[in-house]
Amino acid sequence: MIKAVRPRLNIGGKPTDCRRLCNRAHPPSTCSALASTVRPFRQASPRTPTYGPTTLATLATTIIKHHQLHSQATPAAQPAVHGVFEPVTGTWQYVVADPSTLAAVIIDPVLDYDPVSRQATTGSADSLLALIKKKGYTVDKILETHAHADHITASSYLQDRLSKTQSHRPSIGIGKRIGLVQTLFGQRYGVPPGECSEGVFDKLLDDDEVFEIGNLKATAMHLPGHTPDHLGYKIGDNVFCGDSLFYADVGTARCDFPGGSANNLFASGRRLLNLPAHVKIWTGHDYPPPERKTPMAWMSVHDHKKHNKHLHDGIGEDEFVAMRRKRDASLGAPRLLHQSLQMNIRAGKLPKPTAYGDRLLHVPMDLKGLEW
Ligand SMILES: [Fe+2]
Repeated sequence: MIKAVRPRLNIGGKPTDCRRLCNRAHPPSTCSALASTVRPFRQASPRTPTYGPTTLATLATTIIKHHQLHSQATPAAQPAVHGVFEPVTGTWQYVVADPSTLAAVIIDPVLDYDPVSRQATTGSADSLLALIKKKGYTVDKILETHAHADHITASSYLQDRLSKTQSHRPSIGIGKRIGLVQTLFGQRYGVPPGECSEGVFDKLLDDDEVFEIGNLKATAMHLPGHTPDHLGYKIGDNVFCGDSLFYADVGTARCDFPGGSANNLFASGRRLLNLPAHVKIWTGHDYPPPERKTPMAWMSVHDHKKHNKHLHDGIGEDEFVAMRRKRDASLGAPRLLHQSLQMNIRAGKLPKPTAYGDRLLHVPMDLKGLEW
């Protein structure tokens, strides 16, 4: 007969359910529940209760299965996600962090800009800095999903400010096809090549490239359609999809910018909707219709498949492309189109000052065919 202290955890439940033992995911070496289950056998004394072979065999089986579950099927670690809505451009900015190391990334931050006064301000970006400081995060990367045409990125501003408050300078990352976009719009707007070469970004991400955020794994997903260089970032059971899928009652992003393709957006959207049903799709923008009002940041794959008004299950490519083209033909140019593109192909860096100290952006005249 073997003597043992009664384990303080219930082992009478399903032995394969590790959450009966510890209720959290971790390596076996750090499992306090497992330790408290094993410790009694090490500390047995003559005054402790006595258990027969059947009970001990059940206990041993439970411990072994607990080990197996932790070593073979540890659930993917999940990030802390902070969505911060910028209402003027309807942009969702994100701070995504590894709770175990407090390493973080920023996705698609906004620099506030008033085209009438031509004043750039940093209220939105500073609110991200305040959040990062409050949470104690260290930012490793500032990520762009694409070269935005509707808002100016705050990436370069944030990189500068964070470099002064943390031990290392966060890199600015974007998809590897940004060179196509830089060439196209750099020439159109007369941006000096040195100010909009690929080298103005610190990191060009390859398709399906995996990178770390602390102990988390992130994967770059090429999601072309809205723009050719467009990426989404999958982090745990979340995808930050930029301008591909919007909330269900808004649908999908426009595809009429140079290099855009409704066919490509259909394929990118279906790629997202082929992810497991519970995965959260975090959108790059929201434009809440009057009946909803509140901006929403995410929707599950399951709900998109049922409810996304442009791309729910059952909508075919031809139908989607025809809808998208018709709708895009009715949309006006974004309010900050010219300023955004010229700044964003520079990774948000300021244009070099002129001899007069001005930082110039070009705004083409809209003559509507008028000439003289
Ligand atoms: Fe966009």
